[in-house]
Amino acid sequence: MGVILLLCSLFCALVSMPLLMKLWRRSKERITLPPGSMGWPYVGETLQLYSQNPDVFFITRQKRYGEIFKTHILGCPCVMLASPEAIRFVLVTQAPLFKPTYPPSKEQLIGASALFFHQNGYHTQMRKLVQASLSLSIIKNLVPDIEAIAIAALESWSTGKVVNTFHELKKFTFDVAILSIFGNLDAYNKEKLKKNYNTLDRGYNSFPINIPGTLYSKSVLARKRLGQILNEIIRERREKILVEKDLLSILLNFEDEKGRCLTDMQIADNIIGVLFAAQDTTASLLTWILKYIQLDSNLLEAIKEEQKAIYDANDGGNRPLTWAQTRNMPFTNRVIMESLRLASIVSFTFREAVDDVEYKGKFLIPKGWKVLPLFRNVHHCPDFYTDPHEFNPSRFEAGPKPNTFLPFGNGVHACPGNEVAKLEMLIFIHHVVNKFRWEVVGSTNGVQYDPFPVPQQGLPAKFWKEFRA
Ligand code: HEM
Repeated sequence: MGVILLLCSLFCALVSMPLLMKLWRRSKERITLPPGSMGWPYVGETLQLYSQNPDVFFITRQKRYGEIFKTHILGCPCVMLASPEAIRFVLVTQAPLFKPTYPPSKEQLIGASALFFHQNGYHTQMRKLVQASLSLSIIKNLVPDIEAIAIAALESWSTGKVVNTFHELKKFTFDVAILSIFGNLDAYNKEKLKKNYNTLDRGYNSFPINIPGTLYSKSVLARKRLGQILNEIIRERREKILVEKDLLSILLNFEDEKGRCLTDMQIADNIIGVLFAAQDTTASLLTWILKYIQLDSNLLEAIKEEQKAIYDANDGGNRPLTWAQTRNMPFTNRVIMESLRLASIVSFTFREAVDDVEYKGKFLIPKGWKVLPLFRNVHHCPDFYTDPHEFNPSRFEAGPKPNTFLPFGNGVHACPGNEVAKLEMLIFIHHVVNKFRWEVVGSTNGVQYDPFPVPQQGLPAKFWKEFRA
């Protein structure tokens, strides 16, 4: 009996030895914070970030420390992620462990119920509704209206006077966003929304101190008025029978499994949220596209060749563009993709760790730290894009490597407006190259942050209409 017991104990010890060794090794391998510098007490590396081109700040640290590094900016300890794998970990595979995070002043100006401040149940529900209003089957019906908005915008600039291209494009993208949110909204309400939204927008990135007369306090007041205007539009719409599939109708028609509808505040916050997400992003990218085209006459000719064939097929622009034609502009589409990559207008996004998280069993991302996936670093990395600073649309003839093309983010918060953004850009490009000419005034170098990167001074340019014989 004693011998049997001894043999059993020996067997158990042998079998459990590898496991014990593994546990012992793991306790020796210390999980550490990612490499990097936390800078000076209190200020961290904020001054270094703001005193130089932000690209240089991020790329030098990526070169020094690798795909994941720590820093301290604007009073927050942060972990930066610069590889497709690390970004996927935070935005996709471990997404529930990282919540979206925005400064309270921004949340107040947009409205706390807007979907991008949330995660889990409420976010999923709101996202389904927003996605439904921006799906291909809905936006395909918007082509004639977007086309009319693009032509009207271009004609209004073509006076021979210098315009701030970015500011003019913001009017265009605002009108398109209003169209996808409300369908055809009456001119009176549209004007009121535009006026107040512009005031909100001007103060959105100002210092958040609510003293009368400051840009921020004007912004807060404009947000209140926007809430009232939207409540009035919602009240009028509730009285009608709703069959349309614009965002407002979809939000108004929604009932959850218990028969509860959305509140007016939830609807208003999400409308402002979509307006906010749609306007500057698309306008900024279109400004870059005009700049890239203007710098390279071969590029303009190649786009024109593709677009002119469509224009001629439409009887010299006498017939409207069709949805099918917008889906068959392969070269222009590659120009948009390359512009999204090179300009990387959403250079990074913010999350916050909701718990201590281990990355690759090596690095600790502590609970409460900000986590920044750096999309631009991936887009400008020579491992994924040869000569990354060259504008070369042909690189997209073959699809990008998985998780290396992230202009619209990734995972549960990825941009639901990407198709409508591409559609309005294609329609705009079709008209600008076929019927108009433009000339950039002054230097084309330099970038300003508005907060998205935009060519210096919004790319001042003169536009004029081309007369064809
Ligand atoms: C070139 C144009 C655009 C770019 C580059 C862009 C980029 C992005 C990115 C990177 C995100 C994800 C942010 C994150 O994960 O934190 C996002 C989210 C979002 N975008 Fe866009 N966007 C564009 C246009 C639009 C348009 C036209 C709309 C609506 C009509 C829109 C609506 C939204 C919304 C509602 C979200 C939040 C989604 C969520 O939290 O679930 N975007 N966008």
